[in-house]
Amino acid sequence: MLNPQTIEHAFTQTFGAPPTRIARAPGRVNLIGEHTDYNAGFVLPMAIDRAVWIAARARADRTVQMVARDFADARSEFSLEGEIAHDPANAWSDYVRAVAWALRARGYDLPGLELVIQGDVPLASGLSSSAALEVCVAVIFNAFGNLGLDGVTIARACQQAENEFIGVKSGIMDQFISALACQDHALLIDCRDLTYRAVALPRGATFVVCDTLKRRGLVSSEYNARRNDCEQAAQKLGVTALREITLEEFTRRANSLPAQIAQRARHVVTENARVLAVVAAAERGDLGLFGTLMNASHDSLRDDYAVSCAELDLMVACARAQAGCFGARLTGAGFGGCAVCLVADESVDAFTEHVAREYSAQTGIQPPIYVCHATAGAGIVT
Ligand code: GLA
Repeated sequence: MLNPQTIEHAFTQTFGAPPTRIARAPGRVNLIGEHTDYNAGFVLPMAIDRAVWIAARARADRTVQMVARDFADARSEFSLEGEIAHDPANAWSDYVRAVAWALRARGYDLPGLELVIQGDVPLASGLSSSAALEVCVAVIFNAFGNLGLDGVTIARACQQAENEFIGVKSGIMDQFISALACQDHALLIDCRDLTYRAVALPRGATFVVCDTLKRRGLVSSEYNARRNDCEQAAQKLGVTALREITLEEFTRRANSLPAQIAQRARHVVTENARVLAVVAAAERGDLGLFGTLMNASHDSLRDDYAVSCAELDLMVACARAQAGCFGARLTGAGFGGCAVCLVADESVDAFTEHVAREYSAQTGIQPPIYVCHATAGAGIVT
C-alpha cells in the first residue's frame, strides 16, 4: 500500500529537496447507477482504498515539471506561459496538462510546480485511475495557487479537462466521487444539479472488485454511441434528459421509439429507479435486496444497454454462484474491466479464492481481486 513517506522519499531523490505538499485522490467503484450520469440521473459510487498521490514543490518560474513513478520515472514538462499542448510520448502527462488547461480556461492563474506522481489504482481497469490523477492535480494547483476551489468546482473542471482536452466524453461521476467521497460511505449523486448525500454502507458485507483483465479499445466509440442513443430517445420523448421521464410514462410511450433506442432508454429509466431502491435498501440494512438490485442492474446493462461482454458475464456468474454473495454486476463503462460484488464479511476470503479459481479455470487468466473499503475524497495529506 502506498503512503506519504514513499512518495516524499521519491520526490527528494528526484528533485534534490523534500516536497512541501502531498495530495491524494482515490479511485472509485460504482455500486449502482451505470450510464445514468450523462442522462442527468442518479449514481451511487464509493471511493476505494487505492489512490493517486502527488508530491509537489513550487518553482520560481512558470514551468510544470512532472515525473511519473509508474512509468519508469518518465519525465515531461510544459510552460504555463503559452498554449498548453499534448505530449504524445508521455500520454500520462496529458492529464496534468488537461487540468492546468481547464483551470486556466476558468480564469485561474497557476503557479509553476515540480511534481512526482505515483498511484496504486490499477490502470485501465475501470477504477478511474485517470479521474483520480486529474482530481489530484486540481487539488495540488488549488493549494499552491490559493484558488479557493470547492470539491464540486474541482469535479467540474476535471470533467471539462477529460471531455475537451483528453477528448473522452465521460459524465461527471468519476471526478465527483474522487473529489467528494466520504469515509465508510457511498455517495448518492443527483447528476441533474450535482446535489449529493453520503449513504452509510450496510453492515455485515463488503464490496469485492474482480478484474476480468479484459481490455477493449473501442470503449470510447461505443460509449459515445450509447450517449447518442440516449440523446435521441430524450429528444423523441420531448424531455431534456432521460432522467425526466418516469417509468410509467416511459412504458406507455416506449412503442413510439425505434426498438434499439427504446431498449437503451429502458435501461436508463429502470436504472435510475434501482439506484433509489438500493439507497432505501442500504438504509434498512437489507443486504438481500441490495444484491438483487445489483443483479438486475447487470442484466439490464447486458440485455438492454449492450455494454457487457463474455468475460464480464462469466465473472458475474462465478461470483453469484458463491456462498455469501448477495449480488454482482459490471461496474464502470463496461466492455471489460471489473465486476463489483456484495459479499458477506465472513465469506470474503473463500469468495476471493473460489472466484479466482473458477474464472481462471475457464479463461486461463488469473484475475486480480480487490477487497475494497470506502475512503474519503481527495485532499492535501501533509
Ligand atoms: C465511465 C464514465 C462515467 C460513467 C460510467 C458509466 O466510467 O467516466 O462518467 O458514465 O462510465 O456509468
